[in-house]
Amino acid sequence: MIVAALAIAAATITYSKDIAPLVTDRCAMCHHAGGSAPFALETYDDVKRHASQIVKVTASRFMPPWKADPIDGPFVGQHPLTDIEISTIRQWVDAGAPAGDARNVPPPRQWPDGWQLGKPDLVVTLPEPYTLQAFVVVILGGLGRVSATVVGGLLFGMIEVFAQSIPGSGSVYANAIALGLLVLVLVTRPQGLLGRRP
Ligand code: HEC
Repeated sequence: MIVAALAIAAATITYSKDIAPLVTDRCAMCHHAGGSAPFALETYDDVKRHASQIVKVTASRFMPPWKADPIDGPFVGQHPLTDIEISTIRQWVDAGAPAGDARNVPPPRQWPDGWQLGKPDLVVTLPEPYTLQAFVVVILGGLGRVSATVVGGLLFGMIEVFAQSIPGSGSVYANAIALGLLVLVLVTRPQGLLGRRP
């Protein structure tokens, strides 16, 4: 009797009526063509193709992602699923992901490019490009030794002087050479030029 009632309840959950509004509201702002997520969840086919994966990631609450501590919320843009919604998704997939009546599917939403929550009140930019020179110096020389940092600093200074002598945009070359050297050192001597092996 209870099993039969549950079966009827599950059978009435359809994509058009239940799942499409949920996914459009909670998932599609990232999962749309050109959005930040790796695939779209905008049509029945999209959602059906990922059905079992969707059950897993909603049950584990991996999706929708939310990094901030929910205790401090609620925040603008927070879109958690309730336990009931998660179980609705699972029941729908267990029932074979029925499509339902296509006329009930909400019309497709248009998503803005760029800022999804509107332009922030404050956007901070740096006046000029910034390289983590100190980081490069320490990694080149080797961590944990003052002498290594001195050598790394001298080397970096020499690269800059050398790059300035190249006609054209000197600092661009300096960054490129420093990055190349950094990669070379990390590949061949990950502990840095003078660093000890850990
Ligand atoms: C804030 C943006 C955002 C929202 C909202 C969002 N997702 Fe995602 N989703 C992502 C991103 C980014 C990835 C890729 C994550 C990765 O590969 O680590 C992803 C990956 C996934 C995956 C693949 C997971 C895997 O293991 O490869 C599934 C399935 C998924 N999302 C389903 C959903 C569902 C269902 C919802 C709504 C309930 C949702 N997502 C809401 C951004 C979002």
